[in-house]
Amino acid sequence: MATVICPGSFDPITKGHLDIITRASRLFDHVIALVAINANKKPSFTAEERAEMIRKATAHLPNVTADTYEGLLADYVREKGAVAIVKGLRAMSDFEYEFQMALTNKRLVPEAETIFLTTQAENMYLNSSLVKQVASFGGDISDFVPPEVLNDITERLYRRKKEKSQGEVAPR
Ligand code: PNS
Repeated sequence: MATVICPGSFDPITKGHLDIITRASRLFDHVIALVAINANKKPSFTAEERAEMIRKATAHLPNVTADTYEGLLADYVREKGAVAIVKGLRAMSDFEYEFQMALTNKRLVPEAETIFLTTQAENMYLNSSLVKQVASFGGDISDFVPPEVLNDITERLYRRKKEKSQGEVAPR
């Protein structure tokens, strides 16, 4: 049975992530969408909240599960006996960073491959940071995120933005 890991920040899951997870689920027996820690990012949702959103968005995919992990991806891959790490590649701008991670993971866990799936053209520009920005200003993000998690994201981010601006001292 071939297990693969789809790791990411998933802060929050977008339709681009879901597309990659869905396509991986057609190729492999078991896909674990793993909420991992990106040391360069400060997340808006807790790891468990992000995993729960993945579970809601992938409830129709029986061979997909979601998990969280605070350690090295390579250790998790080995622990699960996964055959590969599956990631989506958008533009060339993703390439260098992803290439570095793939080579590093290959050194740390040589028995697993990193497999890149090219993102669909309509998701080329999609990323979680922009989605959060649009949602925090009350914009419509229904084109960008799975419908099952739309409310979770908009309510939370819009409410937080409002609370923040109400707490700010009015300019004189
Ligand atoms: O969605 P992202 O933020 O591009 O995902 C990056 C992520 C979380 C997959 C990466 O930062 C990661 O693997 N973090 C776990 C810690 C780790 O193994 N770091 C070394 C990567 S070579």
